[in-house]
This record gives sequence, structure tokens and C-alpha cells, in this order.
Amino acid sequence: MKKKWPVCVTGANGFIGSWLVRTLIDHGYTDINASVFPGSDASHLLNSSSSVRIRLFEADLLDFGALSQAIHGCSGVFHVASPCTLEDPLDPVQDLINPAVQGSLNVLEAARSSGVTRVVLTSSISALVPNPTWPSQKPVDESSWTDLDYCKSRQKWYPVSKTLAEKAAWEFAQKHGIDIVAIHPATCLGPLLQSNLNASCAVLQQLLLGSTDTQEYHWLGAVHVKDVAEAQVLLLETPTASGRYLCTNGIYQFKEFADRVAHLFPGFPVHRCKEHTQPGLMSCTAASNRLMELGLKFTPIEEAICDTVTGLKAKGFLEEQQSQSLQ
Ligand SMILES: NC(=O)c1ccc[n+]([C@@H]2O[C@H](COP(=O)([O-])OP(=O)(O)OC[C@H]3O[C@@H](n4cnc5c(N)ncnc54)[C@H](OP(=O)(O)O)[C@@H]3O)[C@@H](O)[C@H]2O)c1
Repeated sequence: MKKKWPVCVTGANGFIGSWLVRTLIDHGYTDINASVFPGSDASHLLNSSSSVRIRLFEADLLDFGALSQAIHGCSGVFHVASPCTLEDPLDPVQDLINPAVQGSLNVLEAARSSGVTRVVLTSSISALVPNPTWPSQKPVDESSWTDLDYCKSRQKWYPVSKTLAEKAAWEFAQKHGIDIVAIHPATCLGPLLQSNLNASCAVLQQLLLGSTDTQEYHWLGAVHVKDVAEAQVLLLETPTASGRYLCTNGIYQFKEFADRVAHLFPGFPVHRCKEHTQPGLMSCTAASNRLMELGLKFTPIEEAICDTVTGLKAKGFLEEQQSQSLQ
């Protein structure tokens, strides 16, 4: 296998970051700088073979010096870290917006001054929707941007943080001539490699436990986390990749997702929605055709659901006896 560039992953111990580190190793990367929030548990990253050098760096996104050390000597950077919670924050600016926006700018400035070839920015569908002005008969695509005023008036701060962070990143890239590519994952599912429960897997856990939340502002579809990690590597390695890449195994209502979960796991009290949960959302099976054209193949969503449930049970976030899968 061809020797790969040294790379840095921010948020390397989170849900997507941990899968990305694993996927990079599978693709032959042997020098990986893993940047993690100071004091955060990263022990699960250190179990790889002796031929792989994972160097841990503790760096708050607001600490430019620490980020610079993590990125120094790398040719590629995957910026994954960002506060990721669907709970209402106490202080939206301090808790979500500053780390997302200033953190992205710090990563880009550190990448620029280290001569990094490309930064793969982990944005989100939350930087695409909600967008009430989007034409009703057209499936959402990468040209959509989240309406900030709409979100602010509804106190939906996570989409605000992701949208402002991505906008700031594109502005920085244009001004300083740095090569960035953005990926926009939908709700990511799959086995947990880390010890804590992240926000997107908690959506499935809560659904299985009877939650009536319809994910109104946070939903386009779902995707297996291993597909997201593969896409991130593909976007680093494909010189012609540019712009924004939606990463979802289709666009469809959360109601449909809940129905599939209920069918797969009839032993759980999954809430069945009667109405459309995302009124006006156009369904689309090939929503991520930009990534599919680069060669990405999506895992069936049923597999992502079952893998998540297995993982939640293995880590103690779901009780075994509650489940009675059809699979
Ligand atoms: N999961 C999804 O469905 C989904 C969908 C679209 C986009 N995304 C994006 O994907 C990225 C990763 O999400 P995830 O699901 O893997 O969530 P996660 O498990 O919560 O990972 C987020 C990571 O960012 C780190 N982080 C947060 N604030 C930080 C700060 N101020 N300084 C340094 N590190 C900080 C966290 O550290 P701690 O572990 O210490 O908290 C964690 O390692 C985020 O940018 C998120 O917006 C996720």
C-alpha cells in the first residue's frame, strides 16, 4: 500500500472522529495526529497496531497554539470537532457558536501556516436546513443554506453554529487561498467506539425508548458513520473534489425512519408518527449523488440501525431485554 500523508483529526475521540481514525488506519495511514479536548477520554484510540503512530494532542478549539502543534507537520487535516448537542445551551455564543466558528478559523489558520494541502471540514445538514425558502418540489441539495434568522427566532442554536462556522471557513479559504472541502452528514448512526453516547446515536436510543421528538429541525435522513468516514477520506484523497458534499443515504421523513425502526425492533415502544414530521420535505434516494459519483457506496440504513442498537446495548445504553429484533 502506498505511503500516506501524515494527517491530523480534530475531535478524534468523538463518534465520527473515532471512526475516521479507524478508517484512516484501514486505508494505510500510519501517522495520525489526534487532537482532543483537554482531559477528554481518548483511550480507545490507542489500541492500534505498532506500525501505526497515533499522537495525542490536547487542544481546545479556542487554543490556537495547541491546535497549531497538533497540525504541524501534517499534509491533510480533518476538522471534525465542534460542540455537538441538540439540548438547548445555557449560553449559545459561549457554548456553541464561538467554539464552532473561532475553532474552525483557528484550525484553518494553523493549517495555512503549516502548509497543509487540504482541509476536510465536517459541516452538517444543519448548515443546509432549515431553509423555508427552498422550492417545495426540489430535493434539498448542496446549494441550500440554513436560514439563520429562522433558526435564531426559534432558538435553534446548533444549526446557527454549524452554518456560521462553515460560512466563516469558506470566507477564510477564499481570502487565504487554502484548499477546503466540506462534508454535510445527515444523522450518523453506527456502533459507538467511544465510551460516551453522542447526540445522533442518542436520537435512535430515545426513539427506541418512546420519545415523541420528531427531529423537525435536525432531520433529512440518516447515514452509517462508516460511510461518513469513508467519504471524508475520499474527499481528502480526490484532488478534483471541491465544494460541499451532502452525505446521507437518502432524504425522507423522520416518520419513515421511525417506522423502519419500529418494524426492526417491535419489542421497543417506538412512537409512530401519524403526520409528516418534516412537512414539505421532498424525498430523494440519490441525494448524495456528488459523493456517489466519486465512488462512495452507502450502507443500507437498516444495517446502520441494527449496528447502532448492537452498539448501544454493548455499551450499556439500551437494556437487552427491551429488544426483540426481527433480524
Ligand atoms: N453525528 C451526527 O449525526 C453529525 C451529523 C452532521 C455533522 N456532524 C458533525 O460531526 C462532528 C462530530 O460529531 P460527532 O457526532 O462525532 O459528535 P461528538 O462525538 O460529540 O464529537 C465532537 C467532538 O468535538 C470535540 N469538541 C467539542 N468542543 C470542543 C472544543 N471546544 N475543543 C476541542 N474539542 C471539542 C468533542 O470533545 P469531547 O469528547 O470532550 O466533548 C468531541 O471529540 C461535529 O462537527 C458535528 O457537528 C455530526
